[in-house]
Amino acid sequence: MAYGDERCLTGTTGVLGVIGDPIGHSLSPAMQNAALEALGLDYIYVPFHVSPLNVKEAIAGMKALGIRGLNVTIPHKVAVIDYIDEIEPVAGLIGAVNTISNEGGYLVGYNTDACGFLRSLKEEANREPQGQRITIVGAGGSARAIGFQLAVSEVDHLVIANRTKSSALALAEEIGGKTRCSTVGIGLDELESYLPATDILINTTSLGMYPQVDTMPPVECGKLPASALVCDIVYNPSETLLLKKAAACGLPTLPGLGMLVYQGAAALEIWLQVNPPIDVMKAVVKRELAKRSTS
Ligand SMILES: NC(=O)c1ccc[n+]([C@@H]2O[C@H](COP(=O)([O-])OP(=O)(O)OC[C@H]3O[C@@H](n4cnc5c(N)ncnc54)[C@H](OP(=O)(O)O)[C@@H]3O)[C@@H](O)[C@H]2O)c1
Repeated sequence: MAYGDERCLTGTTGVLGVIGDPIGHSLSPAMQNAALEALGLDYIYVPFHVSPLNVKEAIAGMKALGIRGLNVTIPHKVAVIDYIDEIEPVAGLIGAVNTISNEGGYLVGYNTDACGFLRSLKEEANREPQGQRITIVGAGGSARAIGFQLAVSEVDHLVIANRTKSSALALAEEIGGKTRCSTVGIGLDELESYLPATDILINTTSLGMYPQVDTMPPVECGKLPASALVCDIVYNPSETLLLKKAAACGLPTLPGLGMLVYQGAAALEIWLQVNPPIDVMKAVVKRELAKRSTS
């Protein structure tokens, strides 16, 4: 791969990448290329801007070009399912794929957003999901991935609270119907009464995300039990207003950066059977986010 210390592409360099629309903002190329370099692997990770009109062709191209693995980001996570050969069971439940592995021309789809959150919960917050009373704020794509993952991880029950109550009801009903998990869907105006019976609260809305850093979901942190863990999957800024308020109440917190890094690490594990350099990946993401908030 290298001549001296220079990274160099050759005829044997393996190709990985990410497809999305837009794609220019993605942190994955910097994070994944740093990981590949740290591991000394002869692979390159490329961002591909793919319009919704070209998803079928892009996935056919993955086979034709022998691209070993692709991450899939907004808005293609559902559309790609029609063009792959097999879907891993939890990704099938979620109904969204963010990682495709090309196994000699046979494409397998995974959802590493879901397992990325779970691994961050276990390794960074030291919490196991089993028996926990979970409240998810939001009912969008990431709430769906995290909700299904937790539902199959033997949590005690799942509350889904959303601004649009009908979406919370629909997601709760779907998760409850497809798994053995007890679920309830509520509006944000009902959230307060569920806080005292919450062990882990997860914000999956975009509230608090840069540049709207002064916003947060309506969570009265003082109403949560003293041991409740407050998670925010927003990773920019790394400490959101919600997490600041939770910490001020003495509650443990879990920022979204870990989920972002572990979903990428899980993809590398699937594609290349390696042990990804988590610290290198985290440092790169922090550096890239710092650049963006000052530019
Ligand atoms: N850490 C990670 O690896 C990671 C991974 C994926 C996503 N994320 C972050 O997670 C956030 C959500 O992503 P997503 O893909 O799930 O988005 P999404 O599918 O568009 O869902 C957005 C959710 O936020 C709610 N929401 C948006 N604006 C709101 C407001 N002003 N007040 C109350 N609720 C509001 C929406 O409620 P309605 O249904 O009422 O519109 C919906 O539940 C983004 O900030 C994203 O950056 C992080």
